[in-house]
Amino acid sequence: MKDISHWVLRASQDVRFEVVETTGLLDPQNPRLRQLPGGDETRAQRLTVLDEVVDDLFGSRIRDYFDSTSTPMSYMTVPAGDEQKTIENVLRIASRLNELGTERSGTPPIAVGGGVVQDVVGMAAALYRRGIPYVRVPTTLLGQIDGSVSAKNGVNFEGYRNRLGTFHPSPLTLIDRAFIATLPERQVRSGMGEVLKMALIKDPELFRLLEEFGPVLVQERLQDTGPLTHDRKPGHEVMHRAITGMAEELEKNLWEKNLLRIVDYGHTFSPVVEMRSLPVLYHGEAVAMGSLFCATLALNRQLLPQSDFDRIVNCIHSLGLRPTHEMFGDADLLKTAFADTVRHRGGAQHLALLTGIGSTVFVEDLTDKEIELASQMVGKL
Ligand SMILES: NC(=O)c1ccc[n+]([C@@H]2O[C@H](COP(=O)([O-])OP(=O)(O)OC[C@H]3O[C@@H](n4cnc5c(N)ncnc54)[C@H](O)[C@@H]3O)[C@@H](O)[C@H]2O)c1
Ligand SMILES: [Zn+2]
Repeated sequence: MKDISHWVLRASQDVRFEVVETTGLLDPQNPRLRQLPGGDETRAQRLTVLDEVVDDLFGSRIRDYFDSTSTPMSYMTVPAGDEQKTIENVLRIASRLNELGTERSGTPPIAVGGGVVQDVVGMAAALYRRGIPYVRVPTTLLGQIDGSVSAKNGVNFEGYRNRLGTFHPSPLTLIDRAFIATLPERQVRSGMGEVLKMALIKDPELFRLLEEFGPVLVQERLQDTGPLTHDRKPGHEVMHRAITGMAEELEKNLWEKNLLRIVDYGHTFSPVVEMRSLPVLYHGEAVAMGSLFCATLALNRQLLPQSDFDRIVNCIHSLGLRPTHEMFGDADLLKTAFADTVRHRGGAQHLALLTGIGSTVFVEDLTDKEIELASQMVGKL
């Protein structure tokens, strides 16, 4: 037996997608929301998919916006909650796109909601006709600073988070910080957990802003409306720096071929805790805890100075986040979590640890003993 012919095909694709922060997105004077990703407008029927809670809060303004500009628009909602990240919801959206005769490229659907809605609509768009463009309007802090620049989507499947999904970046993401004004405070704090991560891995100035303005940012939901913030605009600055940092990191590794990702900082031990905790922990809450656990590992290796470690603990407290959870006191659980993550990273540890606030190093030789020691220490925080 031998091969008689052999073909190798190669192709590459240039990817370009835009993230725009705007104000007054729901004001009919602002054309952004009705524009197609290239900037044109269309009279053909489109679909807006809304988170149910967001529909209650903003649905009538969104309908007024499209009505007042005579843009033909249909609407559907997805109930709130991570348990809605299902293939059934993806299919429900695909059915609706089919019913409306959504085109290959001229009538992109719009996703208005948090990460859950972005993920299910993104996946429906990726599958429908083998991929159509879609427009993202994230309405949570996490969705605005993290999901907004991501190329990924996904649904939970057979008990695993994001087990089914694709890479299918949205060509246009529209951010309006005004959406955050109605977000429950706990969701804001959780979003700040992801901002904190970004500060720790690469942006000391962002960390300084969190130290100076953390509590007021949470209280004002980053709206810069109070006497302390009106002139300095830390809400704007924090959002801008967090998105810029994320965009820089993702752009150089969009398809995640390189598994050495500093943006995964704080996400190594936290997934198991996030999945198992009752009462439920939000994603950013678990990330803040995971970030502090890794800071403890770095402190013990004398990579991270004690003074920086103390600043991190104080900052977490000031954001109204908990530094740790009982489960971080369970070294066996953490070892299982680590083994899971290492499997996900192709068998390598690729563990980012801090060498200071804003700088990291990857280590490949973390030992069980180190996990045990750090686990005992965070148990006392
Ligand atoms: N694809 C990616 O790269 C990526 C990145 C980050 C997160 N995610 C996914 O996103 C999900 C988490 O996202 P999330 O934190 O935005 O959660 P979410 O979408 O569940 O929203 C959180 C809650 O806030 C409510 N809400 C949304 N906007 C609101 C507003 N403006 N005012 C009041 N309430 C509002 C929602 O109804 C929901 O109850 C996870 O499933 C995660 O896996 C994906
Ligand atoms: Zn995250």
